Amino acid sequence: MDVFNSVKSLNERLSFSREQGNSLGLVPTMGALHNGHLSLVAKAVRENNTVVVSIFVNPTQFNNAQDLAQYPQQLTADIALLKTISEDLLVFTPSVKEMYPEGLGAKPYSFNGLDRRWEGEDRPGHFQGVGTVVEKLFEMVRPNQAYFGEKDFQQLAIIRDLVRQKAFGISIIGCPIVREPYGLAMSSRNERLKPLDRVAAAVIYKTLKIAAQKALAQNLLSEITHEAIKEIHALENTAVFYFEFVNARSLEPIKTLENPENTRIITAVNFKGVRLLDNIGL
Ligand code: PAF
Repeated sequence: MDVFNSVKSLNERLSFSREQGNSLGLVPTMGALHNGHLSLVAKAVRENNTVVVSIFVNPTQFNNAQDLAQYPQQLTADIALLKTISEDLLVFTPSVKEMYPEGLGAKPYSFNGLDRRWEGEDRPGHFQGVGTVVEKLFEMVRPNQAYFGEKDFQQLAIIRDLVRQKAFGISIIGCPIVREPYGLAMSSRNERLKPLDRVAAAVIYKTLKIAAQKALAQNLLSEITHEAIKEIHALENTAVFYFEFVNARSLEPIKTLENPENTRIITAVNFKGVRLLDNIGL
């Protein structure tokens, strides 16, 4: 497996693949890889001749210095995990200087309102940072397809919008959430929870499933939401930032269920100081 720190060396290697007309897949990550990331990488490997996995903890998407400082960094372990999927991956691990030669800063994107609610409201500037780094990665790697997890459902919608705005011509492949056996959505942040707390946090997914079933049967969305929040609050040291039925494309909240196929329930929960995101389709 080849590891590249610079855009120049990566592109020297990629120019060969491009000349062969090979399809190129990109899996952008911030490292601390888990089975959720590996499922994206495995899908990218199945669907492309060449796959680049980027590992870069992007400072501009953290609006909280402590969150950035605590973000797990474990490159050696990440590379060992990637090898279990394929020895042929190209791993791109740029420095901050390589990604931001002009100095750290995020572009002032507007994502058609998608960035203003939910994570955007609670974490100002977060999606501008995500947009900035993803745009840079797309320009550096120029993939045909890029793979993102549905756990960060709002991020996925925003990246689709970015690709539309910039007319990048890259297919964005959204991949299903991978869960722990007890139901918690996999996330690098789960590392910050003790094993028993991770099991307890599975109540978030249970509540999402029940809310989805009830919505299809009763359509009383505000009562269902109220019950769900109460259920999650029963966990010790928990605050629900939001638990909402939304239009899966615009992410606008919905009050009555008219189009279940285009409805998602999204939630963010602070459990013991860790922000946990999850969502479910109807
Ligand atoms: O989802 C992530 O890990 C990050 O937000 C991403 C897309 C790699 C951008 O830094």
